[in-house]
Amino acid sequence: GRRLAAAGDCVVCHTAPGGIPNAGGRAMDTPFGKIITTNLTPDVETGIGSWSFSAFQRAMREGISRDGRYLYPAFPYSAFAKTSDEDLTALYAYLMAQPAVRSATPATRLDFPFSVRPLMAGWNALFHDASPYSADPARSAEWNRGAYLVNGLGHCGACHTPRNAVGAERGGQAFLGGAMVDGWEAPALTALSRAPVPWTSSELYAYLRKGYAPQHGIAAGPMAPVVKQLSALPDEDIRAMAAYLASFNEALPEAESAERARQAVLSARQSATSLPGPGQRLFNGACASCHHDGDGPRLLGVNVPLALNSNLHSARPDNLVRTILEGISAPAGKDIGFMPAFRHSLDDSQVAALASYMRSRYAPAEPAWQDLPATVARLRAAPGEH
Ligand code: HEC
Ligand code: HEC
Ligand code: HEC
Repeated sequence: GRRLAAAGDCVVCHTAPGGIPNAGGRAMDTPFGKIITTNLTPDVETGIGSWSFSAFQRAMREGISRDGRYLYPAFPYSAFAKTSDEDLTALYAYLMAQPAVRSATPATRLDFPFSVRPLMAGWNALFHDASPYSADPARSAEWNRGAYLVNGLGHCGACHTPRNAVGAERGGQAFLGGAMVDGWEAPALTALSRAPVPWTSSELYAYLRKGYAPQHGIAAGPMAPVVKQLSALPDEDIRAMAAYLASFNEALPEAESAERARQAVLSARQSATSLPGPGQRLFNGACASCHHDGDGPRLLGVNVPLALNSNLHSARPDNLVRTILEGISAPAGKDIGFMPAFRHSLDDSQVAALASYMRSRYAPAEPAWQDLPATVARLRAAPGEH
């Protein structure tokens, strides 16, 4: 039960910033308004203390609360539904055995028509499949285990799959095809990935297990708490998720991956001196002491060369800009270092110049990002809890 709760990130959403674990009250921003998470501790009055197993099972499978209210899919029941009865039983037992915390959370009030919860019945009829995962006999047991975790409790698609106009995850090619969440981009995990070196099962395993992959980079932003939670899962489960996700990518033979990584790093090292201007000066002054292309001492953290980072190759500068503004204050794993926030030391035009320079240096084959100053101003104004 404890592992399953970790796989499902219950505590990540059901805890207010600085609040008591699982006591609820975190406001989730959705295109339809703010949805506030509930108290998931077994307190009888304010939590789930009076819930029977079947009420819990119905919430997880069908998105219906104990009193019959329809829940919003910001609670990822559309993924959790895939969980087996056996696992739901263990999860319920675990949650019910935690300390009860009395904490009434504010009610969620969305604007009309989204305030009308019964409308979710129609949503469910159109978009929700409440049946548990059924294994694909044509695939290995490992692949099926990975699919069960990724699409079930792991709810990876809740962040990585783009949604339609009414907030349902899209299927087909769009599945795990990359999406925006909390002002961050959750990159594509399939062949649509922008990573310069295609993801392999072993790189995915490293990323999910340790929070960084040597040919890609680190997990930060909203992905950092996911990796932290995954640390409760055994190696076989992480390997299974990696094997499942790898099946959506066309990996290169090992030697070719290594060569591709080497070329990307070399080209960034060469262009470091050929792009003079304010961006280069800012980078050398503020960033280069910690970030180099493998040709300097490793001061802090893992220093995976930025030329390999998907965020530099993305169509959007959001993740890079957010990292510059917010730094890294809660690394996902023990090998990863801290990075200072530059929100107060660099103004919008400096961050824009820096991002523009980094794009040409680290992703020379990609077009320049447009409207950088406006993006920086927008992201600086956005509330960031990461
Ligand atoms: C991505 C954020 C998120 C995650 C992860 C998450 N929840 Fe929730 N959960 C919510 C939100 C938001 C609501 C309230 C939905 C609403 O008001 O319609 C909710 C509501 C619930 C409810 C209904 C409570 C009630 O009083 O009606 C249950 C039960 C629940 N969650 C269990 C879980 C469990 C168990 C996990 C971990 C396996 C989990 N949740 C993980 C966001 C999340
Ligand atoms: C709360 C939203 C959220 C959830 C849930 C989530 N991710 Fe992520 N993921 C992100 C974000 C945001 C990033 C970008 C992080 C960064 O660049 O530092 C990311 C990055 C990644 C990457 C690196 C991609 C790249 O090309 O750099 C992988 C792999 C990944 N996630 C796998 C998963 C898996 C597997 C799950 C489910 C167990 C999952 N994610 C669940 C938000 C999420
Ligand atoms: C004091 C050292 C330090 C400085 C200075 C620093 N960083 Fe970082 N940066 C880190 C560490 C540590 C990480 C996490 C990865 C690691 O462990 O190597 C990181 C990660 C990143 C990432 C990857 C984020 C992700 O989610 O994929 C980017 C991009 C980045 N830094 C950009 C910058 C830029 C731009 C500057 C200059 C404005 C800068 N850094 C300055 C230490 C630093």
